[in-house]
Amino acid sequence: MSIRTVATTPFEGQKPGTSGLRKKVKVFQQEHYLENFIQAWFDTLEGFKGQTLVVGGDGRYYNRQAVQCILKMAAANGVGRVLVGQGAILSTPAASCVIRKHHAFGGFILSASHNPGGPDEDFGIKYNITNGGPAPEKVTEAVFARTEIIDSYKILEVEDQDLDHVASHRLGDMTVEVIDPVEDYAELMEQLFDFPALKNMFANGFRMSFDAMNAVTGPYATEILEGRLGAPRGTVINGVPLEDFGGGHPDPNLKHAHELVDILFADDAPDFGAASDGDGDRNMVLGNNFFVTPSDSLAVLAANATLIPGYKDGIAGVARSMPTSAAADRVAAELGLNCYETPTGWKFFGNLLDAGKATFCGEESFGTSSDHVREKDGLWAVLAWMNVLAARPGESVAQIVQGHWEKFGRNYYSRHDYEAIDLTAANGLMEHLRAKIAGLAGQTLGIHPVAAADDFTYIDPVDGSVSAQQGIRIIFEDGSRIVYRLSGTGTEGATLRVYIERYAAHQADQALDTQEALADLIQLAEDMAEIEARTGRAEPTVIT
Ligand code: G1P
Ligand code: ZN
Repeated sequence: MSIRTVATTPFEGQKPGTSGLRKKVKVFQQEHYLENFIQAWFDTLEGFKGQTLVVGGDGRYYNRQAVQCILKMAAANGVGRVLVGQGAILSTPAASCVIRKHHAFGGFILSASHNPGGPDEDFGIKYNITNGGPAPEKVTEAVFARTEIIDSYKILEVEDQDLDHVASHRLGDMTVEVIDPVEDYAELMEQLFDFPALKNMFANGFRMSFDAMNAVTGPYATEILEGRLGAPRGTVINGVPLEDFGGGHPDPNLKHAHELVDILFADDAPDFGAASDGDGDRNMVLGNNFFVTPSDSLAVLAANATLIPGYKDGIAGVARSMPTSAAADRVAAELGLNCYETPTGWKFFGNLLDAGKATFCGEESFGTSSDHVREKDGLWAVLAWMNVLAARPGESVAQIVQGHWEKFGRNYYSRHDYEAIDLTAANGLMEHLRAKIAGLAGQTLGIHPVAAADDFTYIDPVDGSVSAQQGIRIIFEDGSRIVYRLSGTGTEGATLRVYIERYAAHQADQALDTQEALADLIQLAEDMAEIEARTGRAEPTVIT
């Protein structure tokens, strides 16, 4: 077993985006491509020699090969021990949990989240730091700089390891511990939530359907819901992780989780429905014939936090990404909680959680979580909702949300995505908007007086770091907003995201269909950005 130093040359574009490096599998399969990127991390990180790393992924195509490669490179670079999920599996929140629980130095999570998987689809790698959260921008930038000049990498010449059995192996001077990917995570959930009450709820006939979308959450949801909580078998559907997610698009929204949507919008629908994405960090929550927007979900959970044992003494604050609706802000104001608005991407929540300034965080993109890990956590959100339902017996999901609107007002909210548009056109559109917003404050657009318009800049309240150009926002005097940004996770051309929000304080104005309620703002958003003229798209690809 010897360590080989392999000469290499840099690849262009190994720049981590909103959530790690995402590329087509074929790009990752080029000789040295993965190795260069991993070595750039080892060349940039300091202090990991002899320490523990966590490695695992969402089970998509190329996951196993990548894990084998990372193990050999970790051994060659002086890592002391690697904890790897059995079958090379670890959901993103479980990886965060394992890093924290075992005081690991950090970890590699292999996933392209909700992007499709398979030989012609997407793969991705992200690195999480000691707190269990995504590496901050200054680190990913340093790694990117390293990828641009890299000239060699180190790898142990050794056979692939057996990752299918929970066991410990030696790999050169390093230990590989294959761990149960579910155990630590399930234990953490059991500490936070009232499992006896949830068990009781199932015993009393509570009906739910959980769609794991053939992705990583299957084993977690099966163990927790059907195993520990006694839900009937079959509660979890599409529960076996497949390398290509069964050909589906593992994104828990009304479009892609249509199997679940059909179940929950049927006449004999169960009480509760939920789905999660490729790597288990996203969630969608549905009631009987009712969709809960992720922005509302965060607000409702914040308002009901004290009903959940893990948060019974109250939460310090809420944080949401800038494009997420301001529904949570209303709760924070009412309950006297801290409230933060961060750029898109979970990495911006880490400092706030570490400093105890925020406890619950959320993004409109079906992400919700708390300070129990440093990632968004699909199953956590689902269990949190179930715990609220258990603590408010007799009330349905719809009743709870409508009651919430009555008290706090309703933030109608929608996101319109234009996927795979021409990159130059997308950049042109954003430039055009940047120029246009300069004199906008004080003007009236349609019937909407503009209070402020800017390109969002975030100054981290903990470390003072500044992130500029995080999305163009037009804020109207009544609190309505239009936000534009380009996706940082796509692998094809550019994706334009347009976020539209309107606040309805009174109950009489709260029962509209969302797209209708937002219709004039949507039109305004399309006109302002000249979307059709610039991108050739008359309609969004996905509406959430
Ligand atoms: C998208 C979401 C963002 C989320 C990220 C990772 O990023 O919008 O909220 O954190 O995926 O799941 P985007 O493609 O918009 O950069
Ligand atoms: Zn994800």
